[in-house]
Amino acid sequence: MPAASRSKTPEHVAIIMDGNGRWAQQRGLPRIEGHRRGVETVRTVTDAGRELGLRTLTLYAFSVENWSRPQDEVSALMGLLEFYLKKELNTFIKNRIRLRTIGRTAALPAGVQKALNHTIEATKEFTDYTLVLALNYGARTEVIDAARAYATAVAAGKENLNDDSWATFNRYLYTADLPDPDLIIRTSGEERLSNFMLMQGAYAELVFIPVLWPDFAKADLAAAIAEYGKRERRYGQTSAQLKTTDT
Ligand code: IPE
Ligand code: IPE
Ligand code: MG
Repeated sequence: MPAASRSKTPEHVAIIMDGNGRWAQQRGLPRIEGHRRGVETVRTVTDAGRELGLRTLTLYAFSVENWSRPQDEVSALMGLLEFYLKKELNTFIKNRIRLRTIGRTAALPAGVQKALNHTIEATKEFTDYTLVLALNYGARTEVIDAARAYATAVAAGKENLNDDSWATFNRYLYTADLPDPDLIIRTSGEERLSNFMLMQGAYAELVFIPVLWPDFAKADLAAAIAEYGKRERRYGQTSAQLKTTDT
């Protein structure tokens, strides 16, 4: 195993941000108010991730399945996203945060795409810390897109069908140039992946935190990272094997 895989601090943390709707409902507020507060948490957690030593933070912001929500909620979410991107641009630059996306972003509203492209372009040189937004993302859709791109490459003679290495196929996923997440956190108490990073999360540690996303704080992220530090990642080996290859 690479030494990094035994590190106590994860390099890449991915978060399934869940519970905005319930947060609002509990207060008798419209769901969108929960999303608005959720955006505040995105800001807090982006800063916290860097302070806690992460290199990459991925946030699941909108799934391919989320289009099936009521239309007014979908529009409000897209509006919030555009507002957030425009408002945060200066902060991204000041704090040297590189923005990336995963997902079928070409299907997002034009205004959102424009704001995304602008921010991605303006922050592409930053290498220390990357914020990845999963937008119109679905793991199954990603596999379809990757298989299609891979098949096209095979047909063009750029890939060899006999090459059965994961490293090769991995280059066709949205995350080709990103490390796999070491830790996947889901907030709100739900314990499922909801079509998130099913390939990349093959050996991720999972931590479920029963805090609704608008209430999620730096201390909760730190607690999840501490929990990660207690886990033994075995990758199919035995515990004894890991101990002999350690240090
Ligand atoms: C997560 O909160 C935000 C998105 C999926 C966009 P939810 O909106 O899923 O909140 P709950 O699960 O209904 O409480
Ligand atoms: C997963 O949350 C998607 C995001 C966090 C963007 P959902 O709230 O949409 O998931 P389900 O429907 O409860 O599984
Ligand atoms: Mg939810």
